[in-house]
Amino acid sequence: MTTTVPGLQFRTLTIPASMDAGDAADFREFTRVRNLVYREIAGTDDDAMTPEELLPHYQADPDEIRRAWVVIVDGAFVGRVGVDLPLEDGSRNAFWLVELLAAHHGRGIGSAGYRLIEQTAREHGRTILQSWAQHPDADGDRLVAPTGCGSIPRDHAARFYLRHGYTLEQVERQSELILAGADATVRHLLAEAETASAGYRVVQWQGATPATHVDAYAWMKSRMSTDAPSADLDFDEETWDAERVARHDAKYVESGRTKLVTAAQHVDSGELVAFNELVIGTDPAGPSHQEDTLVLREHRGHRLGQLVKCAGLQTWRRDIAPQSPKVITYNAEENRPMLDINERIGFVPVAYNGAWKKVLT
Ligand SMILES: CC(C)(COP(=O)(O)OP(=O)(O)OC[C@H]1O[C@@H](n2cnc3c(N)ncnc32)[C@H](O)[C@@H]1OP(=O)(O)O)[C@@H](O)C(=O)NCCC(=O)NCCS
Repeated sequence: MTTTVPGLQFRTLTIPASMDAGDAADFREFTRVRNLVYREIAGTDDDAMTPEELLPHYQADPDEIRRAWVVIVDGAFVGRVGVDLPLEDGSRNAFWLVELLAAHHGRGIGSAGYRLIEQTAREHGRTILQSWAQHPDADGDRLVAPTGCGSIPRDHAARFYLRHGYTLEQVERQSELILAGADATVRHLLAEAETASAGYRVVQWQGATPATHVDAYAWMKSRMSTDAPSADLDFDEETWDAERVARHDAKYVESGRTKLVTAAQHVDSGELVAFNELVIGTDPAGPSHQEDTLVLREHRGHRLGQLVKCAGLQTWRRDIAPQSPKVITYNAEENRPMLDINERIGFVPVAYNGAWKKVLT
């Protein structure tokens, strides 16, 4: 496809079988540009991934259709476009991104890429389009989330969304915890949570979920799609079974990343009722990421969130990632209970993301 920008091309991303395959060059370049865009926005390499780490997330997946294009200007890769279409029954959702190197902003390339997104969504009968972007702090006019919690500058990306008919639905806080020096607080908060959570115990595993915990983990993962604060965003209720858990775990194992799951088990029933995930890439000195954390609704009020987070961090530091300097996490700005725990542990806000939505007519 071409537009009025001379030499512009959107080429369907080739997904190689492995990064050793003969057709892996596009994927390598796609990853390089992805990492550069994030460095330009955030000023760090904290979100960088190697192509080997990223590839499993693009390979065929029965849970979603993932379409992606590389953006090429005069033969050079300058960005990427992607649309994810969840395959839950009756899903109306499409999640998307357009990410361009800063030198190519403001020439209509993003708008041309966006046309591919709406076209793809329509082809698949999807009418709810949602997308996230980081909005680095800046002076000037701001947009406040309709939740009343959090605001972002009306920057270039915000204007791009507004121009294409989007509304800001939620502001998400990115926080980080510097691990050196956090051990004593984690230990203290863990002891406090253990006292408040009599009748529950901690269970942990790395890599593939043990057979005894597969059903419980599948149930908790499905509740993540229904029980996390989502403002007026739309998420399909996800169905998780043993195969989906295995596919999820395999993405980490195949990419060489380490995932620690820390769960709280209700001792009398044997049920798992809360969990937290910590992840690190192949570089042991790289940042860690805290992914899902959830306490099932019926078990809230026993400090189980604090329990799984602190138990996870303690094992992480001691046994798994002692060289990792920090943990990064994302939370809805209105999610006070979760932010309270993170703030007590020592997480501090470093950036804000906007969650944007448009409903096609
Ligand atoms: C947000 C982003 C995708 C926008 O892409 P872009 O190519 O810069 O946006 P466009 O050029 O299409 O549109 C921006 C402006 O340029 C104008 N424009 C459109 N065609 C143009 C052309 N041929 N020449 C000059 N300007 C043009 C648009 O009208 C628009 O003007 P406005 O701000 O007054 O509405 C891009 O800045 C980006 O990649 N940012 C970093 C990642 C990110 O935040 N992505 C958000 C979605 S995931």
